[in-house]
Amino acid sequence: MEGYILEWLNLLGRWVHLVVGIAWIGASFYFIWLDNSLETPKAAADIDQGVGGEIWSVHGGGFYHAQKYKVAPPELPQTLHWFKWEAYTTWITGMFLLALMYWYQAEIYLIDPQVMGLSKPVAVALGMLTIVLGWIAYDRLCKSSLGEHETRLSAVMFVFVCVVAWGLCQIFSGRGAYLHYGAMLGTIMVANVAFVIMPGQRDLVAAKKEGRAPDPIHGIRAKQRSVHNTYFTLPVLFVMISNHYAMTWGHQFNWLILIALSVAGAAIRVYFVQRHFGRQTPIPLVIAAVLIMGVAAAIAPAPRAAVDSSVNSAELFGGVQGVMASRCVSCHAQEPTQAGFSVAPKGVELERAEDIVRHAAAIHQQVVVTRAMPIGNLTQITDEERTLIDQWFLTGGKAE
Ligand code: HEC
Repeated sequence: MEGYILEWLNLLGRWVHLVVGIAWIGASFYFIWLDNSLETPKAAADIDQGVGGEIWSVHGGGFYHAQKYKVAPPELPQTLHWFKWEAYTTWITGMFLLALMYWYQAEIYLIDPQVMGLSKPVAVALGMLTIVLGWIAYDRLCKSSLGEHETRLSAVMFVFVCVVAWGLCQIFSGRGAYLHYGAMLGTIMVANVAFVIMPGQRDLVAAKKEGRAPDPIHGIRAKQRSVHNTYFTLPVLFVMISNHYAMTWGHQFNWLILIALSVAGAAIRVYFVQRHFGRQTPIPLVIAAVLIMGVAAAIAPAPRAAVDSSVNSAELFGGVQGVMASRCVSCHAQEPTQAGFSVAPKGVELERAEDIVRHAAAIHQQVVVTRAMPIGNLTQITDEERTLIDQWFLTGGKAE
């Protein structure tokens, strides 16, 4: 029953997380596009009122006319939309999912004894620390004298992010490391909204009401943080879907793959931001494509040694069935016995011969190629058993 409840909490948490995340990133992409596409106002009266740029658009059967003030309008309107709950709810639901999957079920998703034999409390504490310290370190960096030199700051931040990616992959399971890296960057993004961008906006509104000039430092800081958020977006979104792709996090050099794909994501964002400005250099896209194709080529499974053709796949099947029974069916069964599972994960049941044969390619991929299964190697499969599955699959993956 507990497994069943967890499953529902997971589904609902993920559903909401996805919806609010789309609302947040969608709005943020829209405003970046808006900001970068503004034209000089046509009407002299608007310019007199302090309008710095405007844009016309058509959407959903209506015409929209957005105007951006250089600082603030002469009179503040009665209603002012803030766009902050999209970010906050994305973080809240994300932390809920992280806690539910990677902390509450740390022995399954976070700890990999072959990486480091952490106890559950230590693993969870390290996960939490990464997220909190990540924000503190980043915030300090931005506020230090480095923060005034955007290029130097970016270089230091890049090194910092690389160290975190590498470090997490030395202590957690691949997928746990990736997720915590993404959660740290996501937390930085939301904390930027909550602790820098929002206070700046509040000061702007307060200054307007009190008739004083707003402190320009808020604007400068907010701009810097939103630029960072822009470039974090694609790497974070990659991480959030990465757990489906064991070929990335399951690899020996998973930290390097994470860094390469993060850079690729940031470069793609650079391309689009420049495009809004009307600059059309394809260089960032080329960099991203080279990185992604380079990673794909580098982690491609090695060509297989010729298999012994005298071996008959069906003869190996008995052994394979034994491995499934001892290493897999505690989870992959109609009624799993492993705590936390109420149904076979991904609907993959490995009890009956025909099911094992049907899933042969997936079993091979998960057990031999990426070594993602058994998850966290909870059931302690041996290398000999992995080789047996390899041989069985390469000779045809048959039962008889
Ligand atoms: C402790 C529980 C557990 C054990 C033991 C386990 N698995 Fe899994 N398996 C999972 C979970 C959880 C998933 C879903 C992973 C995800 O979230 O992407 C999964 C997914 C899979 C998938 C589908 C992958 C996909 O992305 O479609 C296959 C195939 C698989 N396991 C094979 C095996 C084999 C073969 C074994 C035994 C050698 C095994 N598993 C042992 C928990 C387990």
